[in-house]
Amino acid sequence: MCGIIGILGKTQAVPRMMEALKRLEYRGYDSAGVATVADGRLDRRRAPGKLSALEAVLADSPLAGLSGIGHTRWATHGEPTEANAHPHMTDRIAIVHNGIIENFRPLKDELLATGVRFEGETDTEVVARLLTRYLNEGLAPRDAFRKTLGRLEGAFALCVLISGDDDLMFGAREGSPLVVGLGDGENYLGSDAMALAGLSNRLIYLEEGDWAELKRGGLQVYDAAGNPVTRPVTLSQVAATMVDKGNHRHFMQKEIFEQPTVVAQALGRYLDPNEGTVRLPDMPFELADIPKVTLVACGTSYYAAQVARYWIEKIARVPVEVDIASEFRYRDPVYQAGGLAIFISQSGETADTLAALRHAKAAGQRIAALVNVMGSTMAREADLVLPIHAGPEIGVASTKAFTCQLSVLAAFAIKLGVARGLVDRAREADYVSELEQTPKLMARVLHNDGKMAEIARQIADARDILFVGRGIQFPIAMEGALKLKEISYIHAEGYAAGELKHGPIALIDEKVPVIGLAPKDELIDKTVSNLQEIMARKGRVVLISDNAEHEDGLLARFPMPPAGDLVAPILYAIPVQLLAYYTAVEKGTDVDQPRNLAKSVTVE
Ligand code: G6P
Repeated sequence: MCGIIGILGKTQAVPRMMEALKRLEYRGYDSAGVATVADGRLDRRRAPGKLSALEAVLADSPLAGLSGIGHTRWATHGEPTEANAHPHMTDRIAIVHNGIIENFRPLKDELLATGVRFEGETDTEVVARLLTRYLNEGLAPRDAFRKTLGRLEGAFALCVLISGDDDLMFGAREGSPLVVGLGDGENYLGSDAMALAGLSNRLIYLEEGDWAELKRGGLQVYDAAGNPVTRPVTLSQVAATMVDKGNHRHFMQKEIFEQPTVVAQALGRYLDPNEGTVRLPDMPFELADIPKVTLVACGTSYYAAQVARYWIEKIARVPVEVDIASEFRYRDPVYQAGGLAIFISQSGETADTLAALRHAKAAGQRIAALVNVMGSTMAREADLVLPIHAGPEIGVASTKAFTCQLSVLAAFAIKLGVARGLVDRAREADYVSELEQTPKLMARVLHNDGKMAEIARQIADARDILFVGRGIQFPIAMEGALKLKEISYIHAEGYAAGELKHGPIALIDEKVPVIGLAPKDELIDKTVSNLQEIMARKGRVVLISDNAEHEDGLLARFPMPPAGDLVAPILYAIPVQLLAYYTAVEKGTDVDQPRNLAKSVTVE
């Protein structure tokens, strides 16, 4: 979602801020802006649409200054117009904001009653006007900022410049992440490590309620009570070069093709091939004592949770509950004492998943976070962190994070089975050697990408597409449908193959392609009969399978290598990613930044 950059630098801020905003494009946005303070004077440029629109504005009307703040906005309150774009500015301050100020209406009414005039409709402008009022009342900037923070409710990260002072910037974090970057005679603020990649690798993650006063030569962090505090400096692993497409046309394509490498990396952290064992980070609780596992996530991560349910129940025989985060915490879930709740999130910041994590924590559950971003809020609040080691994922549609999540969840399921005495040494070693094959098999699947490009050409004109699978392939069918609709805007749904007859089959005619996921396992005959029922009704079936026996009447078959239950879901994720990718390319949509979507959804 929205992205923030703030720079107190020694060289012109605008080009550096534009670079940072480009690194933040992956988060999804629909307007952008920058402001600087130079010789005490604030000025700004904003534009709806992509950063190229802001670049055009800046080319016409450049903005000088060594100190600046910049923002990419994903509209929540008010449309993505120039007036609603950040920074918001008064004669005293300029401000950018991520998140939502929940009490903005009463604050706005209070300000309107005192004669304050508003330009736009955003909740952020209320913060700008309130801070200006306190400055006009004579408070020093630090006191005015602190007093303003005390009035705000909701989730926010703020970054502020003050007129009359080229060497002063404020930041605050409450529910939305904000990171300080330490430079050499410069200091920065960013919404994540990616914003600051290329500027600084020495980062301070502000904690909930923290706020900071930055100067070029110094920094003071305060906690919510206003006490000066020292927060640890961490070294960022995110290099600016990681945010590079290399020779790929899109980040999504790069990330799909990186999967054998990153899955090997992830498995390398969790498997010991010499010993034939699974290694998990040190546990603050006994795995063997866990009576129930609850898996909670959103979007693609939710489908990873659904796959994990099959593994955990089958291998470790522990009951598993899976839910979408936005539903979970509002349905008054029944927790079991001593239960383990695992929150799966690439970003570690998704607002609904984080809220669900806090709900489970308050109920006394043991909390694990399976995340890609180590400094993320979920990682910091969990009892146990299971990093997925996928490296930065830029494409909005998640690909490599999904297969790395699955790899780590497979390892977790095995370890849980070991801890409960259901998986002996020999079985553990078998599982480990099976999982070890995954990267090699993934590379074989990717080798056939040309075939999927052909299939995509044949289905790109469809209005609706169904994905079907049984058992552990059912979540992959749903993930395939999500991928396709996210980036190609073709309506798609994933169904359990056995459910087709109970409704969805009514949709089938010669215009509706159906993608069948059918590895040669004990369910293949049943899935194939379901696909034959579709063909009997003129549906165009694409079969993704290692079984070459059922090719009659198919639109196409995408060949897969044979794989067992542990590897197959990871492997079958690839053809559905490729299908979505090539279909989107065929349709000419914006693959990496599909309309209306955000990479990291930090509002509920
Ligand atoms: C957004 C993204 C999805 C992602 C979901 C959950 O909707 O567009 O690709 O799966 O958030 O994100 P998380 O970071 O929690 O895995």
